[in-house]
Amino acid sequence: MPLLAQITDLHLRPPGVLTQRFIDTFPYAERAVRALMTRHPDIDAVLVTGDIADQGEPDAYDRAAALLALFSVPVLVVPGNHDLKAPLREALVSLPGVAHPPIPSRVAHAHRLGEITLVCLDTSIDSLNPSEFYGSLGAPQLAWIDETLAGAGPTVIAMHHPPFETGIAQMDKIGLTDAPAFAEIVRRHGNVMRIVCGHVHRTVVASFAGTTAMVIPGTAHQVSMALNDRAEFGATLEPPAYALHRVSADGVVSHVGYVDDGGGVHRFGGDDDG
Ligand SMILES: [Fe+2]
Repeated sequence: MPLLAQITDLHLRPPGVLTQRFIDTFPYAERAVRALMTRHPDIDAVLVTGDIADQGEPDAYDRAAALLALFSVPVLVVPGNHDLKAPLREALVSLPGVAHPPIPSRVAHAHRLGEITLVCLDTSIDSLNPSEFYGSLGAPQLAWIDETLAGAGPTVIAMHHPPFETGIAQMDKIGLTDAPAFAEIVRRHGNVMRIVCGHVHRTVVASFAGTTAMVIPGTAHQVSMALNDRAEFGATLEPPAYALHRVSADGVVSHVGYVDDGGGVHRFGGDDDG
């Protein structure tokens, strides 16, 4: 059964331009890609769960295309609220599902990988206006999800906006608006083993519609864990990460791994063991 890698929220900009005026995200994304390739050569596919670019610039997608081309396994992308679909499609057209999506206005697609189905959803409303950073699947895509799950066996879903509230109020304000309708479909089919997301730039795991949904950190900056009114909300430089999802007949086991390995492995059982 497959081993899936996930990276998210690369937030790339053209060369020489800082993201959010403080971070050069490209070297961070490159380190994440190289860490996955060298440490986990047995991965079967890579899921990229949105915010590939930060401001939707064509140059940023060209950089993403060059980076993602380093992988020798299928790379499946979905857009996030910082992406624009037209330049994303143009630069990443050779990736599976991008050229001929089942719903023309969406970058949604489904794939078989061995015994499992990977369903990649488009929650972006295609606007870089921060007041429109919320997500929406929309009725045509919800109908397609329903139809796709009806014909699928065990399924993993990739999407940018998580379909649950995180407790970080500022992120929940830009959450998925039609999560209840999505939950009804997922619960009714009962074949979704895991939903993997981005958007929140942290590790967050939740029960959702009879399955488990999770968010992982981004490859560059993170979002502060502002779970109460006194906590400051904003970007942080907490450690970049990726995920590995081990899929088997029994379900999915997910690991979040840090890009920085902390200087390598120190073996147990040294002179001063204890
Ligand atoms: Fe993001």
